[in-house]
Amino acid sequence: MTLWHGRFGDGGPAAELLAYTVSLPFDRRLAPDDLACSRAHVRGLERGGILTPDELDVILTALGQVQQELEGDSFVFAPGDEDIHTAIERRVTELAGPTGAKLHTGRSRNDQVATDLRLYAKRELLALAERVRELETTLFERALEVGDAYLPGYTHLQRAQPVLLAHHLLAHGWALGRDLDRLLATRERLDVSPLGAGALAGSSLPLDPDGVAVDLGFAGRFENSLDAVADRDFVAEALFDLALLGVHLSRLGEEIVLWTTEEFGFLHLADAYATGSSMLPQKKNPDIAELARGKSGRLIGHLTGLLTTLKGLPLSYNRDLQEDKEPLFDAVDQVGLALSALNGLMATSRFDIDRMQAAADTPAAAAVDLAEMLVSNGMPFRDAHTVVGGLVRDSLARHVPLAELVEAHPALGAPAVELLAPGVAVHRRTTPGGAGPGPVTVQLGRFRSHLATQGERLNRASGAPVSGKTHRSR
Ligand code: ARG
Repeated sequence: MTLWHGRFGDGGPAAELLAYTVSLPFDRRLAPDDLACSRAHVRGLERGGILTPDELDVILTALGQVQQELEGDSFVFAPGDEDIHTAIERRVTELAGPTGAKLHTGRSRNDQVATDLRLYAKRELLALAERVRELETTLFERALEVGDAYLPGYTHLQRAQPVLLAHHLLAHGWALGRDLDRLLATRERLDVSPLGAGALAGSSLPLDPDGVAVDLGFAGRFENSLDAVADRDFVAEALFDLALLGVHLSRLGEEIVLWTTEEFGFLHLADAYATGSSMLPQKKNPDIAELARGKSGRLIGHLTGLLTTLKGLPLSYNRDLQEDKEPLFDAVDQVGLALSALNGLMATSRFDIDRMQAAADTPAAAAVDLAEMLVSNGMPFRDAHTVVGGLVRDSLARHVPLAELVEAHPALGAPAVELLAPGVAVHRRTTPGGAGPGPVTVQLGRFRSHLATQGERLNRASGAPVSGKTHRSR
């Protein structure tokens, strides 16, 4: 029996209808939010005089029992339970009889499911933001630990200029920092209670949407009942934030894949964070990094899928909206797993600083320093570029060391040869935000405050103190 059988004939819904339309297999995870939503709703009904204090008690007791059954896995789902909302209401009515049958007064599954999903998103986006900060913290700690170690910086995946390893690690850190900002901003925007919007138009009964919003810990209530039940922009925003975070993790993953090749040899994974081959005994594979790269595809798919679902829908609720949940749940799960796995990998892997530095210490990596020296002596940069480019070309064509040609050049000479020595070029990146030790020291200080500020923001958002220090919680 469904909850909406009243208007229908005796035969009950077709098995195919139920099989196709049920959402219970995936919306079960909204149970804690649905229970919270029902408690706040009945307390509002009691304030409005629709339930007596005794009736309120009876329903709250039944909800408590349902919670115990769900948590203890003893809750028995019935064939007609289309979704978690119907299942809980059915059980409350079984337990509390006619009083239980008052639970759904003034409420629709339309405002209920929107409320549940906002509660879920508030909690999960905050939890993910905390994990983003953990990965940022790991990158920061590794950046501190590697000091002045440097490696080639790349453009077009061709060696370009040496950069500090700390600088490279923090480049990923700042990107993740913006991901965290986005998650918190989305969370603030979705912090609105839809409960009291009813099916689409509100109610004739004395509901208390404002009080219910406060009870549920929302920052406020909906302004428009149609908008409250019809829009899933908050899900789309969350999916965008997670897709972009996934893209950032994918790019980090791609570098881990490259760096762990024998060709690069910049990074060695801890055994616990690498996989073997079923056939080739010598293999050590970076599967976590590859999946961080691979799974970003489905995160982007979830975003485009939901936007496509939403784009043609007339106001207000349409069953199409049920398609909001699986992508959100999957994105939350996958990003959470990726953050933890990459965090462990980054915390435990070993950098091969000698290989990195050797790769960065090719004389050509200091080419721009030669040009900049000519510029300091008054030569226009375009001319300096041509001079140094010519020397590099000569050196390659005639197999003469660049240093010899530099020494022999009238505008360069012995002082310029010093620029080609190992480790010199990276020290010359002195401008603010640049890749050398001077600005990177400043940057590390700023990143430390950035982590502290984020910690405070997360504290405020969760309403409970989380660790204010920058240490990993593992
Ligand atoms: N399972 C539904 C969903 O996720 C709940 C809302 C059903 N509302 C309705 N009018 N059939 O959207």
